[in-house]
This record gives sequence, structure tokens and C-alpha cells, in this order.
Amino acid sequence: MNIDHEFPQQPELCYLNHAAVAPWPQRTLEAVTRFAQENVLMGATHYPRWLETERRLRKRLAKLINANGPNDIALAKNTSEALSIVAYGIQWSTGDEVIISNEEFPSNRIVWESLNTKGVKTRIVDIKQTNPEQAILDAITPKTKLVSISSVQYASGRRIDLTLLGNALNRRNILFCIDAIQSLGAIPFDCQACCADIVVADGHKWMLGPEGIALLYVRPSLRRTLQLNQFGWHMVKNRGDYDRQDWEVADDATCFECGSPNMLGIHALEASLSLLEALGMDQVFDQLQKNISKLIAQLKDLPGVYLISPEHPERRAGIVTFGVQGFDATHLQRQLMENHVICAARGGGVRLSPHFYTNETTITRAVEQLRKIISPAKN
Ligand SMILES: Cc1ncc(COP(=O)(O)O)c(C=O)c1O
Repeated sequence: MNIDHEFPQQPELCYLNHAAVAPWPQRTLEAVTRFAQENVLMGATHYPRWLETERRLRKRLAKLINANGPNDIALAKNTSEALSIVAYGIQWSTGDEVIISNEEFPSNRIVWESLNTKGVKTRIVDIKQTNPEQAILDAITPKTKLVSISSVQYASGRRIDLTLLGNALNRRNILFCIDAIQSLGAIPFDCQACCADIVVADGHKWMLGPEGIALLYVRPSLRRTLQLNQFGWHMVKNRGDYDRQDWEVADDATCFECGSPNMLGIHALEASLSLLEALGMDQVFDQLQKNISKLIAQLKDLPGVYLISPEHPERRAGIVTFGVQGFDATHLQRQLMENHVICAARGGGVRLSPHFYTNETTITRAVEQLRKIISPAKN
């Protein structure tokens, strides 16, 4: 499948920032343009068709994480909101403990720490070591109720063995919550194989969608026990029967969606995911791994460069964070940006994150720009 036309990025741009906010594919531009034109010309005349797109999005998301089906997929505003829905839906007892890692993005820390008003303690485990899963398992106490971890850490790029960890937690009857934003759309994901109770991820990184539309998956039997904290016309069984006075909470995952959906975001993300689905996640992952290997090899050729990200293929996904001896990472990142290498300063280094479609020329040019910055005498 030729996908070159899907990424007509400006030729001078080396876009290596998919771990922050990704560019959209061409088909997403077209879907959004069509949707905008339709809104201008006809308003919501064809709303039932929009609902079909919404359904297709839920199906694609269900397929992406291997959930049972679209009824188990809720759409939230973002990862943080999805985590908050879950954290404030669980019935906690004073003394309960949540385990997170010391590499989490603030979304997956602050929400758990906020539960201290309910007597819940958040324990932070150091995973900067060879066996992060064991470090988490070793931190479990009889009070541990939930472990929440990013499938891939946003700064180091460290990838967690979700199947190993999830099965071990399942055996201990501990809830497993996964912030999958740094892996969904980059690497294959199976919520059943890893015994996930909760999976959350916004669409604007590896899924190539816009900001503001996120996946929230909660294992159905857990979903039914969560307390709801947002209410409205959309989260009930007889949605659309506005005259009806009695109401019951919807059986499916729309119970978490209180009001009007983000139809614009739905149209965009549905289009983006159609591309990943057409390619297949195995191919996407394979291509991304090749790009990461090339990037690492070229970086290691430069004087003074050291990797902050784990190098082992099983410990990495789409993120390569590095430092350069004698250079301030923030300054370096700014200089790279000035030279059209789009990247981020994270975790004490410069974070590069290509995607599957990134071509070799882009990688080579980015590394060449870096070489010019760190060894200018040789230019
Ligand atoms: C691991 C992780 N979680 C969450 C987020 C963002 O959360 P939200 O979708 O609420 O903006 C990021 C963004 O960088 C992230 O890397």
C-alpha cells in the first residue's frame, strides 16, 4: 500500500515529534473538510450518518485494543479526563493504595494523588532499572487496590511488558489501569492478553488524530460497578426520548458520556484510524522499529551522544531520548527546532519520535542537523 500521499509534510521539515502531537494524514484533512462543508451547507441534516461514523470509530478503537466490541468503548475529552472518570468512579476505602511509577506523565500521577482526600495513598515505584515489572510487583502490599502505568513512558520511552505485569496483577486481584497514549497506534495492543481493567489514550499522538478525543475502555464487569459523576441526556438507556421522565444509566460504555459528542474530533480520528487499520498494526510497528533502529545507530555515531532511552527492542517503542555531553538539552532542542527538526525536550534530554511513515532521508537530515550543532568546527 503506497501511503506517500498521506503525509505531504513541508519538505524541509523533519517531523520527529509524534510522542507530542502528530501531523494528520491527508485523509483526515479530507474527512474534516467534508464534514465542515456539510455543516456549512446542510447543518446536521444527515446526523444519522454522523452517528454511523461515531459507531465506526468505536469499532476501530475496539479492534485496535482487542476489546470485545464497540459497546465497550467510551469517548472522552482526553486521557486526563478518562483517568479522572475512573479514579472518581472506584469505591475506595481509607488506606487503599495505588501504585504508579516514577516516570509517569503528570496526568497519571496527579489524579491518583488527588485521592488522598479520600484516604488513598499513592506509592511511586522506581522503574529506572532492568526489571520494572518486578519492581512494581515487589511494591504491592495487602492494601494495593490498583496499579496505573503508562505502556510506554513519555520521557524515557521505556516500554512495559503489559502481559507479564497484567497477568501477575490479575492473579493478585489488583486492578490494572493502562495509560496507552504512547503506544496505541505505534505498537500492537491487546487489552485481553494483558488483563487490562482500564485503558485510556487521547488520539493526537501515534493514532494521528486531533487533540480532544480520547479512548476510555473499562472492563465491562468493572464498568457496571463504577460510580458515575457526570450526568446528562446522552448517558441513559433511552437516549433521544426527550419527553421521558424516568431514566436508567446506559448498559454500554456511553454511560461515561454525559452530553453531545465531539463530532468533529470523531470524524477526524475515525479517518486517521482507518489508515492504521488498512496497514495493520504489525506492519506499522515493524516499520517504526526499523526507523528507531536507524535513528539509534546514527545517533550513536555522533561524538558525545548518550542514550537516555532503553536500547533493547523489547524495552522501546517510538521514542528515542538522548543527551550530548557538554550540551544543555533544552538549548539543543531549541536549536534543532530552529533547523526544522521538530522534537521535544523531555526527561533531561532531547526526545525524537518518528512514526512508521518517516523516511530515511528525514532521519538522516535530522541527525545531520544535530551533528552540525554539536560539532560546528567540522562544517
Ligand atoms: C503518558 C501520557 N499520558 C497523558 C498525556 C496527555 O494527556 P491528555 O490526553 O489528558 O492531554 C501525555 C501527553 O504527553 C502522555 O505522554
